[in-house]
Amino acid sequence: MQLSKLDDESIAQFERDGFLVLPRFLPRDLVADVAAEVDRWVDTGLRVQAIAAAVDPDTHKVPDILEPDLPAHGELIAHKPLLEILEQLMGSRFVFHHMHSDRHEPNRPGKAWHHDYEQRVQSNRSHPMIHALHYLDGIDPDMAGLAVLPGSHLEVAEKTARAHLGTDVLPGEVFIEDLPPGSTVLLHSALFHARRAKPQCPGRPRYFVDASYCQVGTLWPPVKPYWREMLNRARHNGLADSDRPDLFDEIHFSDYIKPEQR
Ligand SMILES: [Fe+2]
Repeated sequence: MQLSKLDDESIAQFERDGFLVLPRFLPRDLVADVAAEVDRWVDTGLRVQAIAAAVDPDTHKVPDILEPDLPAHGELIAHKPLLEILEQLMGSRFVFHHMHSDRHEPNRPGKAWHHDYEQRVQSNRSHPMIHALHYLDGIDPDMAGLAVLPGSHLEVAEKTARAHLGTDVLPGEVFIEDLPPGSTVLLHSALFHARRAKPQCPGRPRYFVDASYCQVGTLWPPVKPYWREMLNRARHNGLADSDRPDLFDEIHFSDYIKPEQR
């Protein structure tokens, strides 16, 4: 597909439902390069190091390699057609928030209903934050799928407000379980969603990279203690485009607060 512009109907759908599925959005070469880096990230322990430094920064120093240091991951963060679509959905000024890269083994448990909108006290939805969920190798019906609850991004709720429902099927949900390789799902970050596992199916590994972006105009809480270093590396690696000065600018963030102090 490799869209670079959304039509009005897609924009309206995103505003109404809080998500948009972009099948085969990413170029094949980029997908192959990112997937190879995901294997390296997972298999050589880089992912575990990054998690350790995020969870226990007093014991673990910031790793030499973070997601934006992997060349194809960096390219994915700043993929022009993606940024152009984000611009259609939240205006020209937005900042990169964070990226997670992973390869889900087929027997990984599901993840209960939640949202990922970053706000210290969930109080309004004045500024959009959007997660781009990249399913590098697609999803097929014998793998874990993505359940979303259309319209729930308009509620002001805690991230865990529906966690007691586990990954149950909810009335009105949309279940996405069949996507071709290179597909991206854009979620308003306040949209409730769940990963619904299929333990009865053998499946195959699910290559999953997500990156999030926030409209500027409010201060966004960082989620990782080394967030400044991550933005610094992104700039240093040349991911910033001169016509997008906000993309890796620290000025759009509040201070990092440890989870136990929030
Ligand atoms: Fe999530």
